[in-house]
Amino acid sequence: MDNFAAAAAGFPDPFRLLIRDSVQSTNDDVRVLADGGAPEGLVLLGLKQLAGRGRRGAAWFASPGESLAFSILLRPAEPKALWPRLALAAGLAVAEAMESFGLTPGIKWPNDVWLGGKKAAGILVEAGKDFAVVGIGINVNQEAFPPELSEVATSMRIEGGAQSLPDVLGSIIARFANCSQLIGGNFGEMVGRILERCVLTGKSITLQSAGGIERGICEGISDSGELLLRNANGFQRILQADEVRVEGR
Ligand code: BTN
Repeated sequence: MDNFAAAAAGFPDPFRLLIRDSVQSTNDDVRVLADGGAPEGLVLLGLKQLAGRGRRGAAWFASPGESLAFSILLRPAEPKALWPRLALAAGLAVAEAMESFGLTPGIKWPNDVWLGGKKAAGILVEAGKDFAVVGIGINVNQEAFPPELSEVATSMRIEGGAQSLPDVLGSIIARFANCSQLIGGNFGEMVGRILERCVLTGKSITLQSAGGIERGICEGISDSGELLLRNANGFQRILQADEVRVEGR
């Protein structure tokens, strides 16, 4: 088995690894541990995740031995209104980690990471009463995807060669330790790093949310993390969206 213990030895404080052979959803397991008083920094890795959850109630399939499915417990000191920024922090950490393996990822606001125009990682942030769970799923070593996914999903291996799962995990945690610090501090610096990798800027996009559908040209991301959209109705700052589509994809 891959040597996750060695990778965990290099985690910065306060992060530490708990491995479970089989889980339904790492987010759910972390939530239970958090309710029981677990301190922040817990990283729970599911070697087999049987019922992974994505955003908007979608399923997330993590192919065992080829992908990473893990959740990080945080107890942020920042006001809850700032916690959605953790999704941006996690996306940036994943993207910067992928770059350390020679890849050129893009960030699709708010929290997908793309390689070669396809999704390679997804992030699901959930809040409890006094804690946040940052769930991250990454396609690392899959060689191919089933036909229904192959147009939209990819892996680090497909885009640039096989990688060690523990090394990828270690690299993400090291970067997340930095990025997660910025949500209540120098968030503008983090947005700058996201903008360098933003795949939506300058593109015609469609946003779907509870308020309806919006179309327009993405003009980047504001200093506080909102998506900037320009269309016939003027200029809008989008706080959140259920679905973001790039036209022509
Ligand atoms: C998305 O793109 O819709 C988000 C996918 C998030 C998947 C991860 S895998 C680890 C953690 N546990 C879950 O059940 N979901 C997240």
